[in-house]
Amino acid sequence: MKKIAIIGSSGQLGTDLSRELGQRDAYELHTLDHGDIECADRQSVEKALFSIAPDIVLNCAAFVRVDESEDDPDSAFRVNALGAGYVARACSEIDAAAVYISTDYVFDGTRGTPYSEEDPPNPLNVYAISKLAGEFLVRNFCKSHFIVRSSGLYGTGGNQKGPANFIETMLSLAKNESPIRVVDDQILTPTFTKDLARAIVGLIDTDAYGTYHVTNSGQCSWYEFGKAVFEISGLKPDYGPVSSKEYGTKALRPSYSALDNSRVHQLGIAPLRGWRDALAQFFELRSRA
Ligand SMILES: NC(=O)c1ccc[n+]([C@@H]2O[C@H](COP(=O)([O-])OP(=O)(O)OC[C@H]3O[C@@H](n4cnc5c(N)ncnc54)[C@H](OP(=O)(O)O)[C@@H]3O)[C@@H](O)[C@H]2O)c1
Repeated sequence: MKKIAIIGSSGQLGTDLSRELGQRDAYELHTLDHGDIECADRQSVEKALFSIAPDIVLNCAAFVRVDESEDDPDSAFRVNALGAGYVARACSEIDAAAVYISTDYVFDGTRGTPYSEEDPPNPLNVYAISKLAGEFLVRNFCKSHFIVRSSGLYGTGGNQKGPANFIETMLSLAKNESPIRVVDDQILTPTFTKDLARAIVGLIDTDAYGTYHVTNSGQCSWYEFGKAVFEISGLKPDYGPVSSKEYGTKALRPSYSALDNSRVHQLGIAPLRGWRDALAQFFELRSRA
């Protein structure tokens, strides 16, 4: 039986990975939330991981606040880069495989067709730069690594401190009377963490270490994503599109960041379902929670 540790286990992806791995007899699961480990502290990382001595470490912890990262690069780099490096170095010392979750935002969006793992990253914002730095540190410190880039994550688990993701933000805005405007010139693939978790478990069942793109299928703008949220939920707010320029955020984001998943398919991992089907199931599961 393989020992597996999940860091950031109470986040969106961490929760679904815990659920997915909890159903499998092949793994002894150790969940580590922020109270159990501080990734930005090398001693804390080593204490937690050396005492478990896992065979695989899934690092789902991150500083994910994209706009805040512009003014607070220290926090972003401490967790997403240095922290990822501490985890990967500890993995290497105990011969564990390291799994690091990265982002579609490492790309600049100019390609216009889905990005492959071979395409050169060119991040546009501090958050994405810190995640890319994390990728380099993971590759440098731990030979046995999987780097999984995904996009627009949402799930039924995660942080209860505020709206956890785009969907919850939309639902919460719809409670007010104010108009809701969402950018229609940034294309991505929204990805359900339940589907991503299953694919990651398929990936770690292999020893085909490397960098992989894993998202649901298809693509849409954030505006279309929000439209689908309101269609499925039956809410009818004053909803409309806006350009990124008009909307204006602190951090620049790529105008196109769909990811080509063919490399992971070549390992025998089935393509993830279309983003609309995944969204429909999210709502089903959410209503039961
Ligand atoms: N969200 C997206 O749209 C998206 C898109 C592409 C890639 N990703 C990547 O996917 C991964 C998972 O994202 P997610 O949406 O599941 O994130 P999430 O819901 O914010 O979960 C992150 C978890 O990590 C914990 N954490 C944060 N800082 C930590 C630290 N310094 N030490 C230990 N634990 C810490 C958080 O705990 P507290 O909340 O208690 O601090 C939280 O439980 C991240 O690597 C993220 O960069 C996310």
